[in-house]
Amino acid sequence: MAEQIGNLTFGIIKPDAVRNGRAGSIIQRITDSGFKLRGMKLIHMTLKEAEGFYAVHAERPFFGELTEFMSSAPCVVLALEKAGAVKAWRDLMGATDPAKADEGTIRKEFATSIGENAVHGSDSEENARIEIAYFFSQLELI
Ligand code: CMP
Repeated sequence: MAEQIGNLTFGIIKPDAVRNGRAGSIIQRITDSGFKLRGMKLIHMTLKEAEGFYAVHAERPFFGELTEFMSSAPCVVLALEKAGAVKAWRDLMGATDPAKADEGTIRKEFATSIGENAVHGSDSEENARIEIAYFFSQLELI
């Protein structure tokens, strides 16, 4: 891997945004906001892979809906670098519920509901490491 200046975080452009042709616009917003792309690929998760990724939410009532949605169509997985990357990416995404997302955030512009909310982001540096390792091999990180 090349020299790392900032921290890394993990992101997903979810199936709703990819299906609606929004992936390019969202990647543009990410790079315009000063993130470097360290890993990026289009994948189509199996239900089992989505269940593994969201295992922490396994007891939640929306787990079935969430994992079926995440495995319903392709998504883009991202390893993003910036100083304070975890917070910076969460700030750019906006609130989980798009109805509560601030003006100028990705979810305000692209999300349609709390389930189909366009993007995912890690909530801590530790989870960012775990989530990047779930989807990327060392060779795929630039
Ligand atoms: P994400 O950041 O990917 O992490 C967990 C996801 O669960 C979250 O974004 C939402 O898309 C989804 N989620 C949270 N609450 C609900 C809910 N009440 N109904 C459906 N999906 C939800």
